[in-house]
Amino acid sequence: MTKKQTWSQRFETALHPAIARFNASISFDIELIEYDITGSQAHAQMLAHTGIISPEEGEQLVTGLEQIRQEYREGKFQPGIDAEDVHFAVEKRLTEIIGDVGKKLHTARSRNDQVGTDTRLYLRGQIQQIRQYLREFQKVLLDIAEKNVETLIPGYTHLQRAQPLSLAHHLLAYLQMAQRDWERLGDVYKRVNISPLGCGALAGTTFPIDRHYTAKLLHFDSIYANSLDGVSDRDFAIEFLCAASMIMVHLSRLSEEVILWASEEFRFVTLKDSCATGSSIMPQKKNPDVPELVRGKTGRVFGHLQAMLVIMKGLPLAYNKDLQEDKEGIFDAVNTVKACLESMTILMQEGLEFRPQRLAEAVAEDFSNATDVADYLAARGVPFREAYNIVGKVVKTSIAAGKLLKDLTLQEWQQIHPAFAEDIYEAISPRQVVAARNSYGGTGFEQVKQAIIAARIQVLQQ
Ligand code: ARG
Repeated sequence: MTKKQTWSQRFETALHPAIARFNASISFDIELIEYDITGSQAHAQMLAHTGIISPEEGEQLVTGLEQIRQEYREGKFQPGIDAEDVHFAVEKRLTEIIGDVGKKLHTARSRNDQVGTDTRLYLRGQIQQIRQYLREFQKVLLDIAEKNVETLIPGYTHLQRAQPLSLAHHLLAYLQMAQRDWERLGDVYKRVNISPLGCGALAGTTFPIDRHYTAKLLHFDSIYANSLDGVSDRDFAIEFLCAASMIMVHLSRLSEEVILWASEEFRFVTLKDSCATGSSIMPQKKNPDVPELVRGKTGRVFGHLQAMLVIMKGLPLAYNKDLQEDKEGIFDAVNTVKACLESMTILMQEGLEFRPQRLAEAVAEDFSNATDVADYLAARGVPFREAYNIVGKVVKTSIAAGKLLKDLTLQEWQQIHPAFAEDIYEAISPRQVVAARNSYGGTGFEQVKQAIIAARIQVLQQ
């Protein structure tokens, strides 16, 4: 039989060992220990401040809790399964250290408002860290973009060659996605940073507590207005997992592109040895494991979001043990997103080498300048739809003749339409095709240079 539980006075027999294991969350909520200690210290200070306990008792509680923090950091405090959860573990140890005063810590509090407080404190710190990772990722993208304003890369729609692009422009698209991720997390933070402490088990407390006081000590922006909502709300967890999933959507898209680019079919990038792995049987292989893993890990983060949504669906007020299931998903999503952002940042920074020569060949060997021929005619008075049809026929006959547009003679051009002149060759050169798209937000070099300046300012914002 397991040891007696904190709540065991009400019970005749001890918990079945298997049920104790099933019930316990200490194996994973130990991750919250420092937040639990910080939250408890604020609660103890508030109890003293409001006269619910004496100032000396408050001091003792705070000091004892600080000792537990030290013991934990030094590896001397490792609570086992009999502690049930991190909250009981800390309270029990506190009483061992400071004696019966430790038993006063839980006055005017429940594990329900306590665990909500801990999870929010944890997530608050993690959100700021993830935002920092996003910034690092953006800075690396910017560095590569700055060096590659005039490097051309084929642009695709439907994964068919569409129009050539500045490589910088392509990478800056990911920078913008990361910017939204950064902003989205900032928005989620607002809903994370609300204190449920003092909501009690569900209905508040009979003690004259000061919820604003603890909220201030813990740097919460505000407090929950309704105690039932405060202890059972996990919207903030769902929102966080949604923001985390969105980051993974973006990282998985970049991953997929890198995987394609590194293939023999594209050959747009070379994978450096520091970020690629070999095959156990095929000696020629160099595998893009990093982006593949990121693409794969996207699935588990989505899974955590789905799990959290389903945990909350139909859950009656207020706290239910189901809510204990929120933590592992949150922790795993946090760790996965951080690891993926870090790895993708390193991959982009030093694991990839773009092949400008190969890219230049790629943009010169297709019909991705066809729109520009139509634009050329349209700019000379031919209605665009008519110009489009003319160029469609030219592309068709050129393909049949095994030629590219640049291979047509001026005479052939003029047979197609008298408006064509010598400058058509310049107009359809890949460089000019890119440079000419100088509309706001377009791939034209001037636009891209402006976009880089704007992005530099953006990523300096903390
Ligand atoms: N370990 C629990 C959790 O993670 C703490 C709250 C327990 N509350 C209770 N009424 N059993 O949710």
